[in-house]
Amino acid sequence: MPRTLPTSLTLGSLVVDTPVVLAPMAGITNAAYRRLCAEQGAGLYVCEMITSRGLVEGDQHTRDMLVFDELETVRSVQLYGTDPVYVGKAAEILCAEYGVAHIDLNFGCPVPKVTRKGGGGALPWKRVLLGQILEAAVAAAAPYDVPVTMKTRKGIDEDHLTYLDAGRIAQESGVAAIALHGRTVAQAYSGEADWDAIARLVDHVDIPVLGNGDIWEAGDALRMVEQTGAAGVVVGRGCLGRPWLFRDLAAAFAGEQVATLPTLGEVTGMMRRHAELLSRHMGEVRGCKEFRKHVSWYLKGFAAGGELRRSLGLVDSLAALDALLAELDPTEPFPTAELGTPRGRQGSPRNRVVLPEGWLDDTDGSDCGLQEDAGEATGG
Ligand SMILES: Cc1cc2nc3c(=O)[nH]c(=O)nc-3n(C[C@H](O)[C@H](O)[C@H](O)COP(=O)(O)O)c2cc1C
Repeated sequence: MPRTLPTSLTLGSLVVDTPVVLAPMAGITNAAYRRLCAEQGAGLYVCEMITSRGLVEGDQHTRDMLVFDELETVRSVQLYGTDPVYVGKAAEILCAEYGVAHIDLNFGCPVPKVTRKGGGGALPWKRVLLGQILEAAVAAAAPYDVPVTMKTRKGIDEDHLTYLDAGRIAQESGVAAIALHGRTVAQAYSGEADWDAIARLVDHVDIPVLGNGDIWEAGDALRMVEQTGAAGVVVGRGCLGRPWLFRDLAAAFAGEQVATLPTLGEVTGMMRRHAELLSRHMGEVRGCKEFRKHVSWYLKGFAAGGELRRSLGLVDSLAALDALLAELDPTEPFPTAELGTPRGRQGSPRNRVVLPEGWLDDTDGSDCGLQEDAGEATGG
């Protein structure tokens, strides 16, 4: 029997008017990008990951990342941490000083630098420690009525799966929802996301499960929800260079079929808007520099020549950007062959996940005294 599609998403006290979440992406989902996406659609737009210790110790780089657009009424932040004390204090700071309405905890990062220290996707292996971290965050956020969610992967590798236990522990700890990226740490971004695992987690827990992995078009989001029973979707790479995907997603969950196919002129308009928002938040020089990494995503599949792409990749002012964008043919239609295809990171699987010595020997972790990182911001 076909499932009824969710039309909104409830995370504790927070009701999101469409069941769509912008995945936290380090170096991408800053205030400018969140605003750009929010201008297109509806949903929850999560700030890039910040470290608990960095926040607690007042690290300037961490504080600089906690910037919100004036139109951003729902502030949502992802925290990284391996120590319950730091995570609890950081959650308290986010609620008390930054007025956040949602905190997500990162337990999915596959970066060796992070897993080597037992963080990110390695941490859920230590079930007791995971529970302690989740409880600390929930307890700190509860007086502010701020929901805490967790985001994780299937496990370290196929022989060391953690997601079902993580779901149970999250539920017992008072976590409002769990997002599952249907890959293991060992897979990094390779292969295909396992949506069956998302369905298994939905069956295993009573809290809302958010499905994540390989949503390239709005139709994929509907398919994921239909196949898995997820309460909503988390969209990452699919919206790189395509913020209008959020328009299509909002329409899809409202029962309409919209597939935005912007002409190159409309895409350059979006690029200009993105660079302008970045400049507004970071200053023009840094904003334009930040914008460079998005150029190839916006132009993917369009006929723009190599020379022009290279110049755009070096753009250092809005005036220079305007001059370069003016060289593109505004009437060029959207390259429909790009639809439904992967974009952003893909890479290859890892032979071995780097872990602290003896990490897999037991699943407790309550006394393993992980060193909490202050400046780890490499994402998930
Ligand atoms: C550039 C980049 C940065 C990321 N940074 C984070 C992060 O900081 N925290 C996190 O939980 N996941 C991070 N991720 C993972 C995404 O949130 C998402 O789980 C993953 O890309 C799978 O979803 P997708 O197939 O929709 O892209 C990152 C992914 C990319 C591509």
